[in-house]
Amino acid sequence: MPKFVWSEKYAVGVKEIDDQHKYFIDLINRANALLEKKCNNDAAEEVVKDLEAYARKHFDTEENFLKSIKYDKLLEHEIEHLRLIEKTNLLYDGVLTGNVNIAKVVEFLEDWLEHHLLTFDKQYADFIKKKNNKKRFFFF
Ligand SMILES: [Fe+2]
Ligand SMILES: [Fe+2]
Repeated sequence: MPKFVWSEKYAVGVKEIDDQHKYFIDLINRANALLEKKCNNDAAEEVVKDLEAYARKHFDTEENFLKSIKYDKLLEHEIEHLRLIEKTNLLYDGVLTGNVNIAKVVEFLEDWLEHHLLTFDKQYADFIKKKNNKKRFFFF
């Protein structure tokens, strides 16, 4: 599996948030490397534990930022974050009980990147762009 590399298509244009999203890409690469080395579940446990802690931190940062810009779909976004935390908890339970292996963790993370980052997070990136364009229209 080729390494995931950060590209502009993932950028939302807010440095702190883009840096945090890069950490998720690192997590995918870490999980993939474990999959290739056929590592056992202890390794998967580490990745999911890290994912859970980092996701909470990231969602806090993101939600505070979205509040500050008065994002019109904030509630919808917060619900989606809650859903992801719940899914991460289930994944963690699955890893602990041996029902989820590292391949499933990789699948979960890739889905996260595609569906959350490229769909939900991109929506607020568009909101920021529109907001900035409006400002430009008024000031120049
Ligand atoms: Fe988000
Ligand atoms: Fe995000």
